[in-house]
Amino acid sequence: MSIKKTILITGGAGYIGRCTAHVLANNGYHPVLVDNFSTGRRAMVGELTCFDLDLADRKLTLDAFRKSPGIVGVIHFAAKALVGESVEKPYEYLRNNVLSTLNVAEASTAAKACLVHSSSCAVYGIPKELPICESTPRVPVSPYGAAKAMAEDVIAQFVRHKGLKALNLRYFNPAGSLGNAQYGELHDPETHLIPNVVSAFLGGKPIRIFGDDYPTPDGTCVRDYIHIEDLVAAHVAALETLAAPGGTGVESLNIGAGKGVSVHDVLETAATVLGGNIPHEMAPRRPGDPPELVADIRQAKSILRWEPKKSLSDMIRDHHAWITGRAKNLL
Ligand code: UFG
Repeated sequence: MSIKKTILITGGAGYIGRCTAHVLANNGYHPVLVDNFSTGRRAMVGELTCFDLDLADRKLTLDAFRKSPGIVGVIHFAAKALVGESVEKPYEYLRNNVLSTLNVAEASTAAKACLVHSSSCAVYGIPKELPICESTPRVPVSPYGAAKAMAEDVIAQFVRHKGLKALNLRYFNPAGSLGNAQYGELHDPETHLIPNVVSAFLGGKPIRIFGDDYPTPDGTCVRDYIHIEDLVAAHVAALETLAAPGGTGVESLNIGAGKGVSVHDVLETAATVLGGNIPHEMAPRRPGDPPELVADIRQAKSILRWEPKKSLSDMIRDHHAWITGRAKNLL
């Protein structure tokens, strides 16, 4: 009888966490979830085991790890993740995101499990050079970005002094659904561009374009959108790379598609893919939005032997399939 390797997934009832659990289960792993359901959805847990706890509590975190023998890997997604809200509530963001990472790093070390940490391009702030390499200085401009940078530093201490094997994956802009549109993005409130564009197409509020006077080719902000399936594949590759003998040689990797796309580009592509008009209106700049964020993904490609495969059209089409399908029953 083969014994499946257990992977503990914090934030496992959230968008990226639950998508990752689905793919890991299909790849012969045994995913175990942890979530405090502050934003994660109970209906998404399904048949999986889930510990309902706050990772900012050291004892509860260590207990959950002890109750899950045979953990070989941990993927730490759980975090408060709204940039704008973090400016309003810096204490909550720093306390929750940094403390939970401290406890997860300690518990992962004790379990002798490797750790993949969900970091963000927000650690770079407004970069001086593009595309952004991992060596680009981290100068976060929001408490959210600062907390992610601190969380990376916390993990680094366990790597250096306690032998933890870990990797920070710095995501750019994930979008789309997977598993035949059974797992996808459903935030309340929804602030992200692609879900809001699809919602505008479906008769929701017209999409507000936050600023068209940026120093970019068409004046709207440029981002690096990555399909959730490609993002999840990077996590599976990261777990396998960490589990292999020898180190990865790096602490952090950018995970994007490596392509810049403007807000106008997204609207245009959505109109083509969805086959209709996307109602929109101009709005002032959203505070804190950097004009352009595009990843240099050469390191991730070479170290993880991974490559993003899906297009912007796939992200829009797959989000639409999810939001008009299974997601309707979850609202
Ligand atoms: N945008 C609009 N209208 C909307 C929503 C977004 O014009 O209704 C624009 C934004 O101004 C931005 C772009 O679309 O220029 C993308 O915005 P998103 O909110 O989808 O994503 P962000 O780039 O703001 O956020 C991402 C990650 C965060 C990370 C941040 C770092 O989701 O986790 O990048 O800047 F912290």
